[in-house]
Amino acid sequence: MVVANWKMNNSPEQSRQLCSSILSKMSATDKEVILAPSHLCLSTVVESTGDSIIKVAAQNCHQELSGAFTGEVSASMLADLGLDYVILGHSERRLYNAEDNDLLAKKVISVLSQGLKVIYCCGETLEQRSSGAHLTRITKQLTEGLFHLPVKDLKNIVIGYEPIWAVGTGVTATSIQAQEMHAHIRSVVSNKYGDVIANQISILYGGSCTPSNAKELFVQKDVDGGLIGGASLNADDFIAIINA
Ligand code: 13P
Repeated sequence: MVVANWKMNNSPEQSRQLCSSILSKMSATDKEVILAPSHLCLSTVVESTGDSIIKVAAQNCHQELSGAFTGEVSASMLADLGLDYVILGHSERRLYNAEDNDLLAKKVISVLSQGLKVIYCCGETLEQRSSGAHLTRITKQLTEGLFHLPVKDLKNIVIGYEPIWAVGTGVTATSIQAQEMHAHIRSVVSNKYGDVIANQISILYGGSCTPSNAKELFVQKDVDGGLIGGASLNADDFIAIINA
């Protein structure tokens, strides 16, 4: 699974052009390819991807389904557009919008209630890694944000591991660091939901993933794909990552 997180980039017209460029360059693949444009560009991207194999995700949504929440977008509105996924808990939203695990736990319920799937992001700061607190930090994010779900919901959850020190910095986790954390995430899921669920869940790596390092990361046993920021804004780079 490869997810393009375009963040706050691309106008509707630029999104349309990037979509058509990706579609024209993409060869047949058995991988799941997902584009996550800004809310403003979602309908353009849904329309541009049409009945292709590309799926569409939102980058966030509100925890309530409707109401007096100026400037917000609900999961029911996103479901209406025909989306497949919503990304929740990205480190940029945790940092700039003060989203914590308790709020994310509510958003997860709201998204699943509308028949959408969740890409739930977790990640540690450099300070937490340096002090050896990285594994417990991720366990806490998973436990508080996801583990209120009944087992039947886990088939609609994808986990994104994005070390904050690697997001947008040009510094990538080594394949050893990524594998260690992904194996940890799988074992934490297994402790709560059992081996079958843990082996089925997709765990994606995100953080300065590029065509030149994607393969080395993706061959790791517990790395099931990538969440791509900067490199997904260029069709050739994004295609190269899908092919990796
Ligand atoms: P970069 O690939 O730009 O580091 O961003 C990763 C990311 O945040 C994907 O969600």
